[in-house]
Amino acid sequence: MKKFEAVIFDLDGVITDTAEYHYLAWKQLGEALGIPFDREFNETLKGVSRTDSLDRILELGQRQNDFSLAEKEALATKKNDHYVGLIQNVSPADILPGIAQLLIDLRAKGYKIAMASASKNAFAVTDSLGLFDYFDHIVDAAKVVHSKPDPEVFLKAAEAIGVAPETCIGVEDAAAGVTAINDAGMYAIAIGTDAGLSHADMVLSATDELTIEVIENI
Ligand code: BG6
Ligand code: MG
Repeated sequence: MKKFEAVIFDLDGVITDTAEYHYLAWKQLGEALGIPFDREFNETLKGVSRTDSLDRILELGQRQNDFSLAEKEALATKKNDHYVGLIQNVSPADILPGIAQLLIDLRAKGYKIAMASASKNAFAVTDSLGLFDYFDHIVDAAKVVHSKPDPEVFLKAAEAIGVAPETCIGVEDAAAGVTAINDAGMYAIAIGTDAGLSHADMVLSATDELTIEVIENI
């Protein structure tokens, strides 16, 4: 019997490099507000919902009390409009190295596959990548009450595909996402070189290191 039944993937930064587009869009908004930030600060935004990301940026610039709720919504919409423009040309060529083959191999070996994304754009991006049919279920930001680092999005994905959390592997590029996987009681694989990912069970520096052999040898 297999040790794990399912693999639950984060989207941005794991399946495709949209994490870079989120960064560019937030960075431009931050600069327009007089709150410049670097990639190190951006690590703390990864996996974090749109509204929480805006709050963190405003806090960084000590401007958290400068905007009404409606103004903050307008700022978040402005960022999203920019982001949606940046992802217009996303295509299957943007799937990160090794991921397409891994999805094929997981299917062939009988693993269930789900997605747990903090993004409200998850369905559109997955569709643009041509990967819709590989996922047994997708949970996006619209379906959860508590965003990462809360485990809800991973637990909902496991429930939807009918597997127990402890039989799931979660794959993430964000510190908040690894915390969510850990608190869901799943095995956490982190992708990336950031020191903030060390609470994962396994850390790989890039997606092409995550192969079916790696998963079967856990
Ligand atoms: C996560 C990204 O997947 O989705 C975050 O890692 C992003 O950077 C979040 O802020 C929310 O995305 P969206 O598309 O709903 O604004
Ligand atoms: Mg991510």
